[in-house]
Order: sequence, then C-alpha cells, then structure tokens
Amino acid sequence: MKICIIYHSESGNTRHVAQHLATACDGKLIGISDTANYNRFTRFLIWCKKARGEEATSIEPASIDVSGYDQLIFGSPVWAFKPTPAIHAAINAVKGCEGMKATAFCTHGGRPGQTAEAFQKWIEDRGMKCVGNANIHQNDIENKKKTKELISVLIKESKTV
Ligand SMILES: Cc1cc2nc3c(=O)[nH]c(=O)nc-3n(C[C@H](O)[C@H](O)[C@H](O)COP(=O)(O)O)c2cc1C
Repeated sequence: MKICIIYHSESGNTRHVAQHLATACDGKLIGISDTANYNRFTRFLIWCKKARGEEATSIEPASIDVSGYDQLIFGSPVWAFKPTPAIHAAINAVKGCEGMKATAFCTHGGRPGQTAEAFQKWIEDRGMKCVGNANIHQNDIENKKKTKELISVLIKESKTV
C-alpha cells in the first residue's frame, strides 16, 4: 500500500510524528510551508485568527500530485482549536485525490478543540473518504505506546503495528 503523509509543522512536533508514520509504512513525506510574511511579534495572533476562521494560506509546494497513492495522511498542529491554515491549503492543493482514503492527525498542547471535525469536513469536501482521526499531546510525541496507538488508527496496514 502506497501512503503519502502531508504535514505542516512550525516548531517540529508534527514533523516528528509524521516521520514515525513514514517509517512505519515506508510512506512518502511532504512537508508544507506557510509562505505568507508574518511579523514575528504579531504572528501568533494572526495565526490564531486565521485558523479560527478556517482560512487557507499561501503554501509551498502550491500543488501536490497524489495520484498513484492508496492513502493520504494529513498532519497539523492545533492552532486556536483548529488545524492550521497551511494544512487547509494543502488539502485544497492535492490533485488526483477523488475517492481516495485519507486519515488525519494533530499534535496539541491539551485542547485539540474542533480539529478532528474540521479535518473531516475539508477531506470530504475534496471527495476523499475520511477513515481515521487521531491526536497526540505535544508532551507524548516520544511516548512509544501513544505513538503506536496513533499509528494503528492512521495506517491500516503498517509494518510496525
Ligand atoms: C498559534 C498557536 C496556537 C495554538 N493553539 C492551540 C490550541 O488551541 N490548543 C492546543 O492544545 N494547543 C495549541 N497550540 C500548541 C500547538 O498545537 C502544539 O505545540 C503543537 O504540537 C505544535 O506543533 P508543531 O511543533 O508541529 O508546530 C498552539 C500553538 C500555536 C503556535
């Protein structure tokens, strides 16, 4: 089974979990960057406002061809109880995803809020089937048991589960 893991990470937690997933399934990893220019003093508030409003932002890569994969996994930090504008843009940017299976995960600081619901809606709006959702606290990303549980929810046929 060919799996593509598409993630956004600003401070590395989500990237860390995405790398574990990629190892578990020999998956392809695609990291998304938010290319908007933010003032470093005000960006926290802008990030929260945009995430809360379920906005998308400009990203690199701007287009992601996923034809040829059997499953997609989307990963994001939680910002203001939602996935980030960059992962929202990435879900909008995938090409060839119609009818594909997809799962999603987030890393968070204790309050994931409506992240799972937003992920499910955005995935289904693009014609994919949302078949799993998981979250992990930022303090648990090195926890083997929790990581294994997350992998078993997100990947149905992994090598290490
Ligand atoms: C702008 C911003 C907003 C955040 N909002 C939340 C939140 O609403 N709930 C929560 O549990 N954690 C929140 N966090 C914490 C992050 O979700 C958490 O640290 C995450 O693991 C960061 O992922 P990253 O290292 O991949 O960027 C927020 C962090 C930032 C920077």
